[in-house]
Amino acid sequence: GCGIFAYASFLCERDRRFVLETLVNGLQRMEYRGYDSAGLEIEGDNPDEPLIFKEVGKVRMLKEKAMSADIDMDKSYVSQTSIAHTRWATHGVPSVTNCHPHKSDPRKEFTVVHNGIITNYKELRLVLEKRGYKFETDTDTEVAAVLTKYLYDSQKGKQISFTALIKSVIMELEGAFAFVFKSIHYPDEIVVARRGSPVLIGVKTEKKLKVDFVDVEFAGAADADKALEEGAAPGAANGLLGVPSAANPHGGKLVRSQSRAFLSEDGMPQPIEFFIASDASAIVEHTKRVLYLEDDDIAHIAEGEFHIHRLRKNDGTVSTIRAIETLEIELAAIMKGSFDHFMQKEIYEQPESVVNTMRGRVNFDTHTITLGGLQAYLHVIRRCRRLIFVACGTSYHSCLATRSIFEELTEIPVSVELASDFLDRKTPIFRDDVCVYVSQSGETADTILAMRYCLERGALCVGVVNVVGSTISRESHCGIHVNAGPEIGVASTKAYTSQYIALLMMAIQLAEDRTSMTARRNAIIDGLHELPGQIRAILQHDSEFQSLAPMLAKQTSLLIMGRGYQYATCLEAALKIKELCYVAAEGLLAGELKHGPLALIDEQMPVILVMTQDSIYPKVRSALEQVIARGGKPLIIANDTDRSLDDNKHGVIRVPQTVDCLQGILNIIPLQLLSYHMAVAKDCNVDMPRNLAKSVTVE
Ligand code: F6R
Repeated sequence: GCGIFAYASFLCERDRRFVLETLVNGLQRMEYRGYDSAGLEIEGDNPDEPLIFKEVGKVRMLKEKAMSADIDMDKSYVSQTSIAHTRWATHGVPSVTNCHPHKSDPRKEFTVVHNGIITNYKELRLVLEKRGYKFETDTDTEVAAVLTKYLYDSQKGKQISFTALIKSVIMELEGAFAFVFKSIHYPDEIVVARRGSPVLIGVKTEKKLKVDFVDVEFAGAADADKALEEGAAPGAANGLLGVPSAANPHGGKLVRSQSRAFLSEDGMPQPIEFFIASDASAIVEHTKRVLYLEDDDIAHIAEGEFHIHRLRKNDGTVSTIRAIETLEIELAAIMKGSFDHFMQKEIYEQPESVVNTMRGRVNFDTHTITLGGLQAYLHVIRRCRRLIFVACGTSYHSCLATRSIFEELTEIPVSVELASDFLDRKTPIFRDDVCVYVSQSGETADTILAMRYCLERGALCVGVVNVVGSTISRESHCGIHVNAGPEIGVASTKAYTSQYIALLMMAIQLAEDRTSMTARRNAIIDGLHELPGQIRAILQHDSEFQSLAPMLAKQTSLLIMGRGYQYATCLEAALKIKELCYVAAEGLLAGELKHGPLALIDEQMPVILVMTQDSIYPKVRSALEQVIARGGKPLIIANDTDRSLDDNKHGVIRVPQTVDCLQGILNIIPLQLLSYHMAVAKDCNVDMPRNLAKSVTVE
C-alpha cells in the first residue's frame, strides 16, 4: 500500500502550478497502490514556510483543494523540492490528520512521506514523549519526523549534514520503509531512504550522465572523531535513544560510508530534475532513466547532485554499484485508453500479454522452451528434493493451477504455500529445496519475508515476478519475468494468466531431458500456440457474460466448484468476485462436496460449475447431478464441443477446448469478465475495491 512521490528541480524555472500538477499527476499514477487519502508539500513564499495540503478520498480531491487555495500559482522557483503521498491506512484511520506528509512540529521543521511500516514506533514515541516532544497523530510515520527533529535539536550549534542526520534516524527504526525527508533547515535538499519498501529515482537532464558509486566504509569508535568532523551525529554513534534494536546489529555504532555520484561529466552545474516514486508508472512520463535504491541506501539530492550513502558496513550481500537503468515500459501501457476501467483493459489485453510472456522463449517449430533467467540453474533445480511454491492471493492460485503439470512432467514433489502461513509455521527448509516465489508486484511483504527466510537457510530461490526491478526480482537467485506489462487494476487478471504460462514454461523446460514426456510437452507447446486466438474468441462473447451479471450481482453468496486443474480456477474466480463485488463467493473442490458443502445446496443457492472436458470430466458430471438433485440450478462453464449440455435449462458459458493443463487459462477469462460486470452492475469501484491496495507491502 501507499505511494510516495517527490519532485526536485534545480536551475530550471518551475512555477507553483507546474509543481502541483507534477505532484498530483505522480500520485494519480500510483493511486492504485493506496487511495484513502492523499497529501503534498510544496515550497511556500518564504523558505521556512512550506505549504502542506491534505485531503481524505481520491487524489482528485486533493488536487481541487490545492489548486483552489489562496496562493500565487505563478510564483516561480529556480530550484525547489516537494513531496507527496497517497495513503492506504495501516496505523490510524483515514483522516486529514493522519495523511502524509507528517511534520515534526507546528513549524514543519522536518517533514516526511513514508511507505511501509515502522514496527518499533510505540517504543520510540514513548522515549520522545518523555523528552517533551508532542505528537498529533496516531501514525507510525510521525515518529520518524519527530525523531529527526529530536536528533537535530540535540546537535544544536554543530553543523550536521542532512544525510548524516537521516542516517542516525534510520539507525533507530525497525520495520519496512521508503522515506523522503524534507526540512526548512536544509532548503533545496531531500533525502530518500529505503529498507524493504520499493523506491526509485528518475533523473531528467539534457546533459550526459555519469554515475559512479563507490562504497567506502569505516566504522566504530576509532572513527568517531572523524565522523564528527564530517557531520555525523555523535549521539547516534552511542546508540542515542538507548533502544536496542534488531535492525541495529552494530550496537548503535554509526557506520559511515562515502559515495560519489557525478551527474555531469564536466562537473558543471546544469538544469536537472529528479522524480522519486514508489513505482515506475509515476516516473515514465518524465524520464526513462532511473536508479533503484537498495535496502539501507540513503540518497541525498541537493544542488543538482545526487549521492548515495550506505547505512552500514558492507557485508558483501549488497552490490556497491548503482547504475542508471532504462525503463522498458511505455506511457500508453499505464493509461486506460478507450476502456472504462484498468481491469477491463487488462482483461482485454490478455491475447497480447500471454504472447509477451512467451516471446523469445517458446519456439513453436522445434517445440523447445528457453527461459534465459533459469538456464544456469536448471541442473540444480532438476536435482532438488522438492519444489516449494510460495505466494499470496491470485499469485498463489497460479501456483495451484500448475502444480499438477509440474509433478507430472518433472516427477519432483511440489508443495504450494501461502506465504503468510508458510512463515507462521516456520516451515523446515533445507539446502536442497528449491523455492519459487510468485508475485505480480514483487513487493508483497509476506512473500519477500518467506523468500528471505529460505535464503537464510540456503535454499535456491527462484522469482516469478511481473515488475522488473522489484525486490523479489532483485533478491532471488534466478527467475522468470512474467512480462505481462504494467497491471494497474487492483484485481489481478492478466498477471494471473501470464504467471500461469510462465510456470508452465518452467515445468516444460525442466522436463526437456525426459524423452518419455516428449509427446506431452509437444502437445502443450502446440496448445500454447493456439491460446491467444482462443482468448480472443472468448472475449468476443463478452456481451453474453455481461447479460448474466445483473442477476448474479444481487446474490449475497455464491459457490464456484470444479476439480483437478479447475480447482484453482474456482478459487481465483471466487477471489475476483469477493474483492470486486463484496459477495461471499467460495471456491469449492467438487470432490469435497459430499463431505459437507452439499448441505449448502438448495433452489436458492447460486452455483457456478466449471466442467470442461478432461480426464476427470465424469467426476465433475456427477457433482452436477448431485447439485441438480438438490434443486440447484448451476451456471456451467463447458467446452463448446460438449453436446451433452445442449438442452441444459440453466446457463452455459462456452469456451474453446485446449490441452487439459492449459484449460484453466481459458476458463478464467469469462469468470474475470463476469466478476467485472457484476462489480459494474453493483456500482462498485472496479479498479480500487474498498480496503484493498495493489501491492501489500506490510505483513
Ligand atoms: C487479487 C490480488 C491479490 C494479489 C496478492 C499478491 O486480485 O491481486 O490477491 O494477487 O496480493 O500480490 P503479488 O502478486 O503482487 O505478490
